[in-house]
Amino acid sequence: MGTTNDTVLVAGSASQLLAVRIARALKVELVPMASKTFPDGELYLRFLSPLNGRRVIIVQSTPPPQNSNLLELFFLINAAVEKGADEIIAVVPYLAYARQDKEFLPGEAVSGRYICRMLKNCGADIVITVNIHSRSIFEGIDLPFIDLDAFPLIAEYFEKTPLKDPLVLAPDKGAVEEGSLIAEKLGCSFAFLEKERDRYTGEIVTAEKQMGLKGRDVLIIDDIISTGGTMANAVSIAVKQGARNVYVACVHPLLVGEARLKILNAGAREIIGTDSVPSDVSIISLAPLIVGALKR
Ligand code: R5P
Repeated sequence: MGTTNDTVLVAGSASQLLAVRIARALKVELVPMASKTFPDGELYLRFLSPLNGRRVIIVQSTPPPQNSNLLELFFLINAAVEKGADEIIAVVPYLAYARQDKEFLPGEAVSGRYICRMLKNCGADIVITVNIHSRSIFEGIDLPFIDLDAFPLIAEYFEKTPLKDPLVLAPDKGAVEEGSLIAEKLGCSFAFLEKERDRYTGEIVTAEKQMGLKGRDVLIIDDIISTGGTMANAVSIAVKQGARNVYVACVHPLLVGEARLKILNAGAREIIGTDSVPSDVSIISLAPLIVGALKR
C-alpha cells in the first residue's frame, strides 16, 4: 500500500465497526459521510472528503438486508469512480448470493456471477472477500479478487478455550476442508456429517452416524449460519451422542430469524462468529486478517 495520505477508507453502513478497526490499524483517514434514507426508501450518499487521486478502500459486507447492502456498495464504488478515485478496493467480507454459483435446477438465475459482474462494471479494481462460499462465481470475470481465510482465527480462538478431548465436526461435506484444517491446528480428531437440502422446500435432513462423542467437547464449524438449520441438526446429533459441551462457530453469522434460538435450544453452549456480520456473537474480528492483506 502507498502512504497513509493517499489512501482513505469508506465505511459502508453494514460494516461500520470493522471499517473503523481497519482504518485505525492502517492509520488512514475514515472518510466522513452524509447518508440518509429518503421517506420513500431511496438511499442518499455523500462523501465529505475529496477522493480525487486517492486509493479508496470501501468496506461493506452484504448480509441481510443483502439487496440494499449490495446497492449501497454499488453506489459507493460508482460514486468513488466519478469523484476521481485512483484505485478502488472493495472489501466485502460476506458476499451475498455466492451460494447461487450454478444452475441447481434448470432455468435458475446464477445470481452469484451477476453480482461479480456488477462489481466489475461499477468500477472496482480489486475485491477482497472472506471465505466466499464459492470462488467459481468470479470465473470468467476480469476482476482480480482475493479470498481470505478466517478459519485460522477461529482455530486460534479455540486454542485459548479449555476443551476436554475435543473433536471438530463439519455439519456437512462442504465444511470438510476447513474443519479438518482446524482439527489439525488444534491437534484433535475430526468427523463430518452428511446433509441433504430439498431444492424446492429448502428442508434440511442430516444423516446421523456414530462418532464416539461421549464426554467430549465438540466444535462444529461452518462458513455461514443462515437459518441455523444445518447447525441445529448437527448440535442435536452431538448432544444425543453424549457430547459434554457443543460449541458452534462460523465466519458469517447471518443468524436469520430464530437461528440463535434453534441452535441454543438444540443444546449448543455458545455460538461464535466474526465481525464479517455485526452481531452479539461476532467476537472474532477480521480486521487483522484484512489489514494484513491490504498491506501486502
Ligand atoms: C451451505 O452449505 C453453507 O455452507 C451452510 O451450511 C448453510 O448456508 C447454512 O445454512 P442454514 O443455517 O440455513 O442451514
